Formats: sequence, structure tokens, C-alpha cells
Amino acid sequence: MNIAIDGPAGAGKSTIAKKVAKKMGYIYVDTGAMYRAMALFMIKQGIDPCDAPSIEEACKIADISIEYRDGEQVVLLNGENVNAYLRTEEVGNMASVTSVNAKVREKLVELQQKLAKTKDVVMDGRDIGTVVLPNAEVKVYLTASSLVRAQRRALELEAKGESADLSKIEADIIERDNRDMTRAISPLKQAEDATLIDSSYMTIDEVVEAILNLVK
Ligand code: DC
Repeated sequence: MNIAIDGPAGAGKSTIAKKVAKKMGYIYVDTGAMYRAMALFMIKQGIDPCDAPSIEEACKIADISIEYRDGEQVVLLNGENVNAYLRTEEVGNMASVTSVNAKVREKLVELQQKLAKTKDVVMDGRDIGTVVLPNAEVKVYLTASSLVRAQRRALELEAKGESADLSKIEADIIERDNRDMTRAISPLKQAEDATLIDSSYMTIDEVVEAILNLVK
């Protein structure tokens, strides 16, 4: 059984997917974290995001693997647990830019498909229902307005004691959506057979419930 959840940055995919996976007893696969780990490697190597040959070279030497420890996905980059370094704006933006590269996608899609073949998964990302798991039993396209997504992000930053400029955050979100939706390979789009859920005015539990109803 595979559940695919796609949608733009900040729509709440990982929070929702984690909860659905827990309720169903499935494993949660965060594919964005894999693109982020590749991006972290490229930042560490000082690779220019426009330098395609160097990005392709990096694909050959960056080994990405996934483990589960106490039910949590751990991303290993050349054997090192890099979870703690993945969720910054710098890494997210680099991931959005470098994920347009075909070699990066080929490498990570293969890993994602292998995981889904052997286990029941809830997998979230941008191209899960369209490319990675086209035969997933349940497909959801989870979105929310850019303003609501920016407000959620601002609250997260404020909770961490960091300052948040709402209009800058919204502008970044719109730029990232645009890049993810207009790239040539595997752009973010709703699969024809996916159910659209707009979470702008829904609670987390309401969204989880809506997805569980699709599974039944
Ligand atoms: O979901 P996220 O914000 O962690 O993803 C970071 C970037 O990785 C996102 O902007 C685009 C890319 N990505 C992708 O191209 N395909 C996926 N399946 C998941 C993420």
C-alpha cells in the first residue's frame, strides 16, 4: 500500500504525512529531505548551483541512504546522520535549485522507488503521484494559499525566537513554487487521479481525517 502526498512548500505535507503514517502503521518517507541532503553536500563542496557538470559529478560521490531510528527517518550522507542540518532556508533553496538536475532526480527517485517496493509507505514530495509512485493506491495534492503558508512559517520562526518578515517569507514561497512548478523534469503538479485538499482553513487533524477517509 502506497500513499502519495504532493504539494508546494509549506502546505503541511510532512506534519500530515507523519500523522497518517503513524495511524496506519506505515513508514513515512520524506523525499524533500533526500534532495536537501544532496543540496547540503553541494553547499559543503562549494558547488555553484548553476554548474551542472559539478552537480552531476557530486551525484557520483554523494551516497544518500535512509534508516529508521525509533520510527524517525534518518538521512545518511556518506554514512553521517545529517538530519540536524537539513531544515534551513539555505539548504531548502539550494535543494529547490539543484533538484531540477536530471541526474540528481534519477539517483533519488531510484532510492524512493526501492523503499516503496518493500514497505507500506506514506511518501511526500513534489512528483510522488506523477513520477515516483504512479500506481500509488491513494494520491493527495495538498496545498494552501501562499499567504497562509507564509503565516505558518512565520509562526514557526517566531516560536524558535527568530524574527520573521511575512512579506519576504511569502515572496520566497512564491519564488520556490514557481521554480518547482515550471522546471522541465518532473514539475510539481496535481496528478490526474489525485484528490485536491486545500488546507488553508483546515486544522491538521481535519486534513489527516480527510486522507484516512480516502484510504478506507
Ligand atoms: O519538501 P521540501 O521543502 O523539503 O523540498 C525541498 C526541495 O526539494 C523542493 O523545493 C523541491 C525539491 N523536491 C523535489 O524536487 N522533489 C521531491 N519529491 C521533493 C523535493
